[in-house]
Amino acid sequence: MTEPIISVRNLVVEFPLRRGLFTAVNDVSFDIMPGEILGVVGESGAGKSMTGAAIIGLIEPPGHIAGGEIYLSGKRIDNLPPEEMAKLRGKRIGMVFQDPLTSLNPLYTVGQQLVETIRRHLPMNEAQARQRAIELLGEAGIPRPKPASTAIRTSSPAACASVSSSRWHCRRSPT
Ligand SMILES: Nc1ncnc2c1ncn2[C@@H]1O[C@H](COP(=O)(O)OP(=O)(O)O)[C@@H](O)[C@H]1O
Ligand SMILES: [Mg+2]
Repeated sequence: MTEPIISVRNLVVEFPLRRGLFTAVNDVSFDIMPGEILGVVGESGAGKSMTGAAIIGLIEPPGHIAGGEIYLSGKRIDNLPPEEMAKLRGKRIGMVFQDPLTSLNPLYTVGQQLVETIRRHLPMNEAQARQRAIELLGEAGIPRPKPASTAIRTSSPAACASVSSSRWHCRRSPT
């Protein structure tokens, strides 16, 4: 029998708040088989993003997984040390964040953030990784990938309006 790529068993995510424990994800279980796509639908605040964040090990403390198990191709990953999880993240498992304006760190250039992930997983020096980052931006359809790689994303539309209109990262895509 084929093994699920992802298996989530009775996942519970909690946030300790001043007025007590808040349960953001309550007893969620599902399997995703190879080649399968799972869509999760629910009202805002239902716990969809927290379920995804738990799977890739990116729940911000003091939030934490308070129960359940997560398996990646049969290997339990919810209890891995952070360094072990970091080896999987960006290689075996990743997340496309909903909002590109908040998923990039404004203190680093786009290229620096790509180089960090590339060098974590591939035996490349800084220059090779930088070149690869530019190629990847091009493959993703980003216009003028080289200048794009040295851009810093800005999060506020006002800040975007104040920088050159040629800065690709300041264009908001229509939603
Ligand atoms: N850092 C946090 N501290 C406390 N509660 C949080 C935090 N982040 C998210 N939550 C709560 O967890 C619940 C699930 O959020 P989320 O997974 O983002 O919902 P959505 O289904 O809209 O993606 C929401 O009620 C949200 O308010
Ligand atoms: Mg969400």
